[in-house]
Amino acid sequence: MSHHIVEATDVRYAYSDGTSALNGVSFRITHGEAVAIVGANGAGKSTLLGHLVGWLSPSSGTIRIGDTILTQQTLAIIRRTVGMVFQEPDDQLFMPTVFEDVAFGPVNMGLPHDQVHARVASALATVGMEHLAHRPPYHLSGGEKRAVAIATVLAMSPDILVMDEPSSGLDPRARRRLIALLMSFEHTRIIATHDLDLALELCPRTIVLHKGQVAADGPTAKLLTDPAVLEPCGLEKPLSLQGCPVCAATGRQS
Ligand SMILES: Nc1ncnc2c1ncn2[C@@H]1O[C@H](COP(=O)(O)OP(=O)(O)OP(=O)(O)O)[C@@H](O)[C@H]1O
Ligand SMILES: [Mg+2]
Repeated sequence: MSHHIVEATDVRYAYSDGTSALNGVSFRITHGEAVAIVGANGAGKSTLLGHLVGWLSPSSGTIRIGDTILTQQTLAIIRRTVGMVFQEPDDQLFMPTVFEDVAFGPVNMGLPHDQVHARVASALATVGMEHLAHRPPYHLSGGEKRAVAIATVLAMSPDILVMDEPSSGLDPRARRRLIALLMSFEHTRIIATHDLDLALELCPRTIVLHKGQVAADGPTAKLLTDPAVLEPCGLEKPLSLQGCPVCAATGRQS
């Protein structure tokens, strides 16, 4: 299943104003892995994810998806393989109704009408938003928009799923549903997140970015409990590992 491999080799990227956002990032993610990308604000997570779907091109270095090096010529192939949920749902939703937004990808894939309908229904049901199908996306709440943005990508059935802060703005039940969904997804998942509890639960492997470089890459349970990794990168232990403050104050075990 080499086509599900994602490889970055010494990727560097500077924005047009000269800001160096990636300063030599390398990793290899293999088929079926669930990998968290964590790091403080501005560490380069979104910039890195933008490279994995070709929204940004490296100033130097390469991105390889399966056997294909990402270039302008291979962009169409890569975008059929990699589905990306953006950090801002408003960047993903632009059609008059939720239905049309979720149908947009399948229609562009040239699928017949009945298959488009089946995919839209299934993707919206998966994120629990089928009741919103005929609403305009711009009138939805933040969490509803995020769920619909996830549905637009699920409807494409990508081999590789890339998500930028997918749990941000979700209520606890929607967050739990998202985690269960991502756990059931068998393909490669790359998830940039500040939700370190989600990373701990969902992703056996974590890549820690700091100032555009890979500060650590290894087992999530090990890295996210190691102050020598977390503190220099401006991170804190997942809440679930910090102990209960009420129990600590009353001397009870958490
Ligand atoms: N369009 C842009 N033009 C110039 N600099 C940018 C642009 N977008 C991001 N940057 C800069 O690139 C660096 C990395 O930003 P990026 O958005 O990748 O960080 P991030 O890790 O996703 O942060 P966050 O956790 O806040 O989402 C930051 O220094 C940021 O200020
Ligand atoms: Mg970001």
